[in-house]
Amino acid sequence: MDAVKAGLLGLGTVGGGTVNVLKRNAEEITRRAGRGIVITHAAARDLNKPRICDTEGITLTTEPMDVINSDVEIIIELIGGDGLAKELVMAAIAQGKHVVTANKALIAKHGNEIFAAAQEKGVMVAFEAAVAGGIPIIKAIREGLAGNKIQWLAGIINGTGNFILTEMRDKGRDFDDVLKEAQALGYAEADPTFDVEGIDAAHKLTILASIAFGLPLQFEAAYTEGISNITREDVNFAEELGYRIKHLGVSRRTDKGVELRVHPTLIPERRLIANVDGVMNAVLVQGDAVGPTLYYGAGAGDEPTASAVVADIVDVVRVLTSDPENRVPHLAFQPDALSDLPILSIEDVETAYYLRMQADDRPGVLADVTRILGDSGISIEAMIQKEPQPDSDKASIIMLTHTALEKQMNQAISNIEALASIHGEVTRIRMESLGAE
Ligand code: NAP
Ligand code: HSE
Repeated sequence: MDAVKAGLLGLGTVGGGTVNVLKRNAEEITRRAGRGIVITHAAARDLNKPRICDTEGITLTTEPMDVINSDVEIIIELIGGDGLAKELVMAAIAQGKHVVTANKALIAKHGNEIFAAAQEKGVMVAFEAAVAGGIPIIKAIREGLAGNKIQWLAGIINGTGNFILTEMRDKGRDFDDVLKEAQALGYAEADPTFDVEGIDAAHKLTILASIAFGLPLQFEAAYTEGISNITREDVNFAEELGYRIKHLGVSRRTDKGVELRVHPTLIPERRLIANVDGVMNAVLVQGDAVGPTLYYGAGAGDEPTASAVVADIVDVVRVLTSDPENRVPHLAFQPDALSDLPILSIEDVETAYYLRMQADDRPGVLADVTRILGDSGISIEAMIQKEPQPDSDKASIIMLTHTALEKQMNQAISNIEALASIHGEVTRIRMESLGAE
């Protein structure tokens, strides 16, 4: 049988990695797919730019539509963003071409429309590389855990952010300096605020929640908080209390709806996921039958991401001749069986909290703070007070609370901040025990 022809949109970090992996492992890939796979066309903005891959034998163009209009059967979208990428993916689907993409922004924001168009045309849109880089988490949830009712999932799903937090903690490096290194290594998004403000993680979490709970994609409903306000002080206090701070995406099914939230989180340091460092990602999925399962691997970078892209291409090639009605559904559940469970507002989420505040070092201050928490029904699990630094008369008070509703905590924090003895804002970091239920 002839090799399947594929066209690449984008020849950057992931595009270059994909060409390299397809070439290096061509024999193994052909044995798995049943047919050879060859990139015949590719588009990039600047054809004179040095590439990490050899483009010999590939017809290059600066016009992505030329690739779509060529005789390729599969379009691999690795341009990024949700403007041009959406137009190109929709154009490819309209021409009856299968699509493989690593673009989480595109899927999280426009996936519902894209999948509907793909369904109508009987083509596949595969997006394994869009979540957690090289970890085959989409396949694991969509197929491997298909017998379970999934209760919750939580993950470190941004490599850049985890790399920054790890380097800051282990080497005392400066935030901006580590971010620059992540960009040079090809980990960061075109706009790195997507990484550090949690937007990229929220895109990925939106996708995970949809395939775990059978929901339409609802990125706008996700709560997002970044890591740029995490201080060394908080990292050290957390460690003293036996916790690590990780930038976590959490989605949990409750009776009232589905939690969908990305924020810095204290995790007990004994949990495996608390020890996932650098660019590595990990996703913990709790199913009712299987219990907790943990998936770990590189969350970004050229070849780890290419590993997921190529796996999707192989999947597409394997089903090229199969019945379109009987393929694995895009969002794991049949399109007419998606649930209308609402996504909860962050105000209705219940978690435990780490609180840090600067207080006057005098009798009665602590009593005022604990009274406010007590009046809001919030109980304290642990507390430490740090003596004022030599150049200051303010003490740091750090508290860990038991679980409380976010709206109760908001009220308590605003009452604490109103005390004359408390200075500046109260730092609040949510906590998750991530134990099996
Ligand atoms: P990248 O290195 O910036 O590559 C983007 C490519 O798209 C470049 O080759 C660029 O051309 C090309 N391009 C941009 N606009 C174009 C246009 N108008 N016409 C033709 N070509 C155009 O980005 P990347 O890191 O590979 O990321 C690609 C996608 O994968 C994104 O959706 C990203 O979120 C996702 N992703 C990335 C990683 C990672 O580790 N980097 C991991 C998982 C998922 P030039 O090279 O000529 O500028
Ligand atoms: N910028 C993303 C990250 C790339 O750092 O995780 C992988 O999706």
